[in-house]
Amino acid sequence: MNSATLPDYKRMTPEVRERLDRIAARPVILEGRNVFKRFPTSDGGEHTVLKDISFQVHSREFLSIIGPSGCGKSTLIRILTGLESATSGEILLDGKPVVSPGAERGMVFQKYTLFPWLTVCGNVMFGLESIGKDRDTAENVALQWLDIIGLGKYADYYPRQLSGGMQQRVAIARALVPQPRVLLMDEPFGALDAQTRTQMQNYLLEVWRNIDITIIFVTHDLDEAVYLSDRILALKANPGEINELIEVPVARPRLSRMLLEPEFLATREHIDKLIRPPVKREDRCDFQIINMVGDKTHL
Ligand SMILES: Nc1ncnc2c1ncn2[C@@H]1O[C@H](COP(=O)(O)OP(=O)(O)OP(=O)(O)O)[C@@H](O)[C@H]1O
Ligand SMILES: [Mg+2]
Repeated sequence: MNSATLPDYKRMTPEVRERLDRIAARPVILEGRNVFKRFPTSDGGEHTVLKDISFQVHSREFLSIIGPSGCGKSTLIRILTGLESATSGEILLDGKPVVSPGAERGMVFQKYTLFPWLTVCGNVMFGLESIGKDRDTAENVALQWLDIIGLGKYADYYPRQLSGGMQQRVAIARALVPQPRVLLMDEPFGALDAQTRTQMQNYLLEVWRNIDITIIFVTHDLDEAVYLSDRILALKANPGEINELIEVPVARPRLSRMLLEPEFLATREHIDKLIRPPVKREDRCDFQIINMVGDKTHL
């Protein structure tokens, strides 16, 4: 199917429309109000990274944030966790201002962030001990979670003994054990190979379907954003501003064959155009790489 024959990305079946309306009718759990973030520059000036970001996320919604590199996605997610503060504007969780990290917000980063000196079980227990659970309770709950994520028999392994996908599953379990209301994820599958990434996407959707959690998910990958999300917050760069908040017109449950459906492709193409504007003449690559091979047999 070429782009000329794709439907309007806003077109959706009545069932999908109804589902999105049901989500919109749920209570707002997390809200950004006119968030600005400015960093000081070395010449004494200021760099506005985020400009006037306002949005609302509803209970049990899956929202992705997408945008060009450097547009402020990680900065925004750090502000949502409370690891960083906004220069002005506010973040509200259940209507109350977020001023510091809290147990109701779990976080998973791109880089494997498990503690290398703790076992898999110890890493998951850490999330529980950090909210005051005693050691025995923490160990029991951690072992239950490791069974849920299919890593029960790896409880005594150290992170270096696991594959990247397994480590991220442990990181997700560690973030989920304190039962946060919101899970914030910054390119959690960015370092995984394509096949493991697809498995992890399906795994995450399965977790999300089965527990009461709202997910905010930063990604560079358009397919990943459309495949996972109810809505996608597309940012533009310099300064990072909201470009569009897109409702994903694809039915659930999501299946890999849906990546080829017209609604999926139309949404993907729309976001691609939004975040990858046409290359300007001055940005084109005009230089020639010096040929160091010595012959042209590869041509
Ligand atoms: N602590 C900081 N001090 C100064 N500038 C910062 C700081 N943190 C981020 N920035 C700047 O803010 C901008 C946005 O960075 P950020 O990491 O949020 O982008 P991003 O959208 O997550 O990029 P990527 O897609 O590459 O991960 C960049 O220009 C970065 O240099
Ligand atoms: Mg980032």
